[in-house]
Amino acid sequence: MSKVVIMDHPLIKHKISLLRDETTGTKDFRALVEEIGMLMGYEALRDLPTELVAVKSPVAESMQPMIRGKKLAVVPILRAGLGMVNGILALVPNAKVGHIGLYRDEVTHEPHEYYCKLPENIDQRIVVLPDPMLATGGSAIQAVDFIKAKGCRNIKFMCIIAAPEGLNALKEAHPDIDIYVGSLDDHLNEAAYIVPGLGDAGDRIFGTK
Ligand code: PRP
Ligand code: URA
Repeated sequence: MSKVVIMDHPLIKHKISLLRDETTGTKDFRALVEEIGMLMGYEALRDLPTELVAVKSPVAESMQPMIRGKKLAVVPILRAGLGMVNGILALVPNAKVGHIGLYRDEVTHEPHEYYCKLPENIDQRIVVLPDPMLATGGSAIQAVDFIKAKGCRNIKFMCIIAAPEGLNALKEAHPDIDIYVGSLDDHLNEAAYIVPGLGDAGDRIFGTK
């Protein structure tokens, strides 16, 4: 069953408020995006299947749960999604990492693809797709289209801030994926920026403006 989960943990809320603050500089912004990536990853991976495996402690052997079967791939949407990757990898260090490069045209707001490199056997993996911002939804929809065309069926999209417009568009285009949202904001402005949002996530992570 696919689902939409809006985070309600106070730690995530607090860190997102710090991210929004225009006085938060690059170093702290980057650290916060990574921390939120980890906290959201913890929620998003809550349903990973486990299996019972024999474990021998110094006292006795018993059957204990271990993560089972399907392997993970983390596929950030460049650039800004990169900022969340290390937080997720702190939880699942053996996950493979792919990249999808998309940029939004400043005038039309349409996404354009410029790079893609995915792990082998991506169709057999659970794919976690992080991007801090879900605005019109165009970039996320295109990234999921692409991943699905490679045969992936188990997809978890994670964003720190979503606009209702983008969340609705993504749900409509891809009703079969799981979507994890840190904060559902109010609306998009005329430049298709999320209000109140946090500004341009990529520029704030990489200090490019
Ligand atoms: C931002 C953001 C998303 C996209 C969201 O990336 O990281 O990928 O915009 O907007 P949408 O939902 O309207 O498609 P941007 O295109 O600015 O590229 P960048 O990460 O390289 O800065
Ligand atoms: N991309 C961003 O980085 N921020 C927005 O508010 C919208 C798209």
